[in-house]
Amino acid sequence: MNMRGFAAAGRSVHTAGEGVHLERIDKLLGSTGRWSRREVKELIRQGRVQRGGAPVLRPEEKADPETASLTVDGQAVDCSPFVYVMLHKPAGLLSARSDSSQPTVLELLPPELKRRGLFPVGRLDKDTTGLLLLTDDGDLAHQLLSPKKHVDKVYLARVEGRVDQSDVQALAAGMVLEDGLRCLPAGLEPLEEGRACLVTLREGKYHQVKRMLAARGKPVTSLHRLSMGPLALDEALKPGKWRFLTPRERVELRRLG
Ligand code: URA
Repeated sequence: MNMRGFAAAGRSVHTAGEGVHLERIDKLLGSTGRWSRREVKELIRQGRVQRGGAPVLRPEEKADPETASLTVDGQAVDCSPFVYVMLHKPAGLLSARSDSSQPTVLELLPPELKRRGLFPVGRLDKDTTGLLLLTDDGDLAHQLLSPKKHVDKVYLARVEGRVDQSDVQALAAGMVLEDGLRCLPAGLEPLEEGRACLVTLREGKYHQVKRMLAARGKPVTSLHRLSMGPLALDEALKPGKWRFLTPRERVELRRLG
């Protein structure tokens, strides 16, 4: 996870195995800016700070900033240094932070999140819908996008014509496109008698799904991203709606690191 982010915030970090970083609870609460370190120590002494429902007894106890459920006087305190947002991207918006002439997905977020400098992790085409993660955690974004990390992205594509076993084999072998672009082996699972399919990529080259299927003579008529690694689009999110990732989803993403 993002050691740089912690370092930039002047925090000490302790590693506790598989991508988990622990920090002193007095520092964590102090870093929210709501209390001084001295005030936090006093709150702890008075028994007003709890972690997972149990009182924190000493300021030097450590917790995972991403997942610790800390409360002060029974009120939850969010200590995560980063924000992670799952968005159901609708068609018609650019996957960019800003654009001089066209609306971007950032316009779907409230002003306080826009101010935090969130950016989309990877790009979906303007007409592609589905799962888009937005964050201010640059290291995590890098991990999700790096082909070396083998993070599968799964798309539902509808096509003209019908995909068949020859297409499955061609994608599995790794296609070379007209311009010489060499694609990593990709998964293809025909659905609805070949009129639709699931495409699984480990990389995210420009228009990749559309270009691969067009090269097979099955142009894409609509494209929708269902998942990215362990993160699946929440079916309860309507197009244009967003929510924060749950602690469990954040933990699963950090396992990629
Ligand atoms: N592949 C495409 O062709 N377009 C997308 O938006 C994503 C993957």
